[in-house]
Amino acid sequence: MPEPSTPPPLLGPAAGTTVAVIGAGAMGAGIAQVAAQAGHPVVLVDAQPDAADKALATLRQIFDKLVAKGKVTREDADDTLERIRPHTTTDMTTIPPVDLVVEAVVEHLDVKRALFRQLESAQPASTVLATNTSSLSIDDIVGQASTGHDAALHGGTSPPMARPERVIGLHFFNPPPLMKLVEVITGDGSGEGVLDAAAELMRRWGKTPVRCTSTPGFIVNRVARPFYGEAQRMLAEGLADPATIDGALRGAGFRMGPFELTDLIGQDVNLAVGESVWRQTGEDPRYAPTDWQRDLVREGRLGRKSGRGVFEYADGRPVDARPDEHQVQALVGGPLQTDPVARTLAMLVNEGVDLVHRGEATADDVDTAMKLGTNYPRGPFEWLAQIGADTVRAQIDQLDRLYPGGRYRPSEAL
Ligand SMILES: NC(=O)c1ccc[n+]([C@@H]2O[C@H](COP(=O)([O-])OP(=O)(O)OC[C@H]3O[C@@H](n4cnc5c(N)ncnc54)[C@H](O)[C@@H]3O)[C@@H](O)[C@H]2O)c1
Repeated sequence: MPEPSTPPPLLGPAAGTTVAVIGAGAMGAGIAQVAAQAGHPVVLVDAQPDAADKALATLRQIFDKLVAKGKVTREDADDTLERIRPHTTTDMTTIPPVDLVVEAVVEHLDVKRALFRQLESAQPASTVLATNTSSLSIDDIVGQASTGHDAALHGGTSPPMARPERVIGLHFFNPPPLMKLVEVITGDGSGEGVLDAAAELMRRWGKTPVRCTSTPGFIVNRVARPFYGEAQRMLAEGLADPATIDGALRGAGFRMGPFELTDLIGQDVNLAVGESVWRQTGEDPRYAPTDWQRDLVREGRLGRKSGRGVFEYADGRPVDARPDEHQVQALVGGPLQTDPVARTLAMLVNEGVDLVHRGEATADDVDTAMKLGTNYPRGPFEWLAQIGADTVRAQIDQLDRLYPGGRYRPSEAL
């Protein structure tokens, strides 16, 4: 793996380490807040006139509330806001030289590829260039080794970046100030020294970094797929109703069931992530989205935001989403095919084990990521220790016999 000639200057005093955040949307504004609270001068850049100013005005309101609640002093709030400088441009040469760029613009490969090429020539060679992409491959952004999936869709004709060692992923979760997890993503060419420094910087920002390769969905968005997929398949087969499946999983310690959670995330957003992972894995049947969810989205039943998803909503609360508690009792611990908990846990464990087996992340990082990124009560490896590899393997084998076709393919590591 290529190394930078000098280590990146990310870990000096915060006041002397400068940050640019490109994209002042939901994520960019939150990342700018986190960096400024850690003491860095931040340039918050957006292409849309007023977007960065509006983001700063919203941050001002957030800090007013935090001051009113006594969570932050007026002085700290003013100092933090003072460190963020809004800047409207599409021309990256107008951004002053900084030590770290975090890109959080729209999730389009061609836009990000163009932006990174501009940044590469506009910023000093020592500047670390990070993307907050949720689903694109770092290697496709760098353009040095097209992996074929999204690059093929968006065209990938621009030349590869000259210094891939300084390009990494820093995948924050929404909302960045509250979510502890940051996935630090390694592209094929990312330098080890750059990744180590970025992970240490995230710790200094009060975050918990985990490391992952640029595999589709990284850790969280990959391993979480079966949490939604199993529930949707059980529902589509008429094995139980949504509220009862949700109730069963809440009973196993999940804060929300898969249906109420996807209604909250947005069925369209959840489906888009699922489609992206499926496409990027060469349409692996393990990740095939369900027609049931596609129909939901086609009908505009997007969840809470549209007033109707799996459940109907009145005043932001689900109507008639009460589980049949007798049925929950009967299903959980019963035959595998109709046990929402056993089916889901077996598939989550299988997915986590497989990710580690392929060398994409460590077992500890997978457990940490799933607990912090999705609020799971345990990580897949903690469940593995509890359930036992033989049992999980037998469960996946049984599901594979019931539903042949490759979705229930046990990891070799089981
Ligand atoms: N929303 C989430 O939950 C979430 C979570 C993790 C990661 N992400 C990723 O973060 C990124 C941003 O997501 P978001 O939800 O904040 O999007 P958003 O649509 O809220 O904001 C994107 C901003 O980028 C600006 N922009 C677009 N092109 C630009 C350009 N060329 N130069 C400068 N500014 C430009 C837009 O004007 C907009 O203000 C995406 O890559 C997304 O996949 C999102």
